[in-house]
Order: sequence, then C-alpha cells, then structure tokens
Amino acid sequence: MDFKPPFQSITWNDDRVTIIDQTFLPEREVYVDLNTAGQVWDAIKKMKVRGAPAIGITGAYGLYLGVKDLNEGSFDTLYSEADRLAEYLNSARPTAVNLSWALKRLMATIYAAKEKPIEEIKEIVLDTAITIHNEDRRLCKSIGEHGGELIPENAKILTHCNTGGLATGEFGTAFSVILHAHHAGKLKQVWVDETRPLLQGSRLTAWELQKAEIPFKLNVDSAAAFLMQQGKVDLVILGADRITKNGDTANKIGTYSLAVLADAHNIPFYVAAPYSTIDMDLETGSEIEIEERDANEVTNFGNKQTAPDKTDVYNPAFDVTPNHLISAIITEKGVIKPNFKTNFEKLFG
Ligand code: MRU
Repeated sequence: MDFKPPFQSITWNDDRVTIIDQTFLPEREVYVDLNTAGQVWDAIKKMKVRGAPAIGITGAYGLYLGVKDLNEGSFDTLYSEADRLAEYLNSARPTAVNLSWALKRLMATIYAAKEKPIEEIKEIVLDTAITIHNEDRRLCKSIGEHGGELIPENAKILTHCNTGGLATGEFGTAFSVILHAHHAGKLKQVWVDETRPLLQGSRLTAWELQKAEIPFKLNVDSAAAFLMQQGKVDLVILGADRITKNGDTANKIGTYSLAVLADAHNIPFYVAAPYSTIDMDLETGSEIEIEERDANEVTNFGNKQTAPDKTDVYNPAFDVTPNHLISAIITEKGVIKPNFKTNFEKLFG
C-alpha cells in the first residue's frame, strides 16, 4: 500500500511529545506539546489523545518525561519512582490494555538495565518508547495488508468509533484494512457510525476518511440494523481495546449491538488489533474493567443540555463482545479464526 499519511497523531520532538488534540477535531487541527508525565496523564484522561494503541504510545513517552529529570543516584530510587509513575499514568484510563502493556514493557526494560548508569537507563527508556511507536506503525500496516484479503469486490463496510491514524501510531487498525481495500480498488463505500456519546465516528473517522479520499456516508448508530436489513452492509470491521485469551473483545460502547445485528443478518463481523491489544493474562471478557465516564457526556450535546437537571446516567465507555459473535480477528501476524484461544496460544504463546 503506497499511502503517505496526511498527519501524525503523535510525534516525539527531542524533549517533548506533540499530539493532535483530538477534542478540537474536526473543526480545527490543533497540535499541543506535552512536557511532563502530568500533562500526558491529563491528555489521556480528557481524550485529547485516545484509541488503544495511541494511549499506549503516549503513555510510554509520558513515563520517560517523568523520569528524565530525576536526580537520583541509585537504581532502586529510580525504579521505585518509575513504578509509581507507571501506576499513575495507567490510572488515566483502565480498559485499553495497550497503556498498561506499554508501561509494563518499559518497567521490564528498566529492570533489565539495572547494572547500567542511571543516565543510560533513562536513554533506554526513551529508545523503548520510540521503538513501541515505530513498531505500532509497522504492525498497523501489516494489519491492513492481512485484512485486505477478507474484503470482497465492491465492498460496503460498516465501522464504529475511530480506529485510524489518530488512534494509533499510523494507518490504524480496522481503518488500515479499509485503506488497503480502497487502494486495491475493492471498496464501494464505508458506513460510519457516528458513535455516541463522544462522536469519534463523525468527528474523527469521517475526518480521516475525507483526508484519505475514501467514499463514506455518516449514519446515526441506531441506523445500523436498518442498513443491514436493506442489504447495504457486506461486513462490519472495527478495533479493540482489550481482547482476552478466549477472543472476547472490549471495544467502544455499541460494538456488542453491532455484533448481534451482524449475526442476525448473517454478515461477517471482524475485529482488527495488534498483539499489544491481546491480554493473555485474562481468560474471559467478564474480567475486563469497563471505564465509566462522566454523565455530562450523555446529558449534554456540546454546550446544549439534552436531559433534565439531575438526570441519573449510566455511561459505560466500552462493552464486551463474546467471541462466538466474531468471525475473525485480524492481527499483524495474519487473520485468526475461531477457536481464538487455541490459535492465540499458537501464535503469541
Ligand atoms: O474511548 P476511545 O475513543 O479511546 O475508544 C477507542 C475505541 O474503542 C477504538 O475502537 C479502539 O481503541 C481501537 S483503536 C485502533
């Protein structure tokens, strides 16, 4: 796929990380510098940067920003401060495993370098964060290539939330498959679920599709059943925030409904994700912590109040799709079909 990304959602610039502040999109393309671990925590919490791989990458840079100015002479002090910072950064958002995965990887790297001088260990932390970032770019490209083989000619694809370059190091996950299919001339049109309540579909995916010149139509989330009933959807493809050992998949709220609908209409339902999203420590989806977000996201639409004062709200940011509703999981290593547990173990150990 010969495609030059029209933007970089995350960039490392010598002593700071620069992100597109996604809360301004689609109206304005605003880039902000994050100079401290505290600023990184805040950017993840407020979803200035969001999407499972993207928060893992930014969190990794955040850990480096937290340790780089420490004046400690001893390894033990550096390690315990890094450990405290990793826990702090990880507390910003609980569901996507990529954040804790990246932080654990950095902590393991620090420990493995314990005999080295402190300044050298700090450089190793930065190098590892940059490696995680570059690795994600490569993984996303491969996901697109592998997923491309599942897409029929003239495909009409429905997607949910945002899985593009904004949500990853580059290209995206499910978005990368869409991009690949488009460049292979196989794509007729993408249906973009607007993705209530924060509208990642209409604000972000539509913005990315426009930049990539891919034909799409935006629909309200509740139109998905009707579109499928009318034969207007050939397949559903979306990303993941955490996939457990048996293939159960946590993703943006509304994903499970789409899986049930796809099943009812006999339409393939695909999940695309890199290996960093597969959590081999959890057996099933019931063990995944689901983030609950502020009631304001539901009771207000922008600045407009859309529910009476004091309305009680339940606002889970994610849901869990049981593995039996998933036709295949597309990873950088190829397309994985059920039985996911057996096949994950073969591929990822
Ligand atoms: O709450 P968000 O916007 O961070 O949720 C993101 C999603 O659910 C994405 O679908 C998922 O992270 C996959 S990103 C490649």
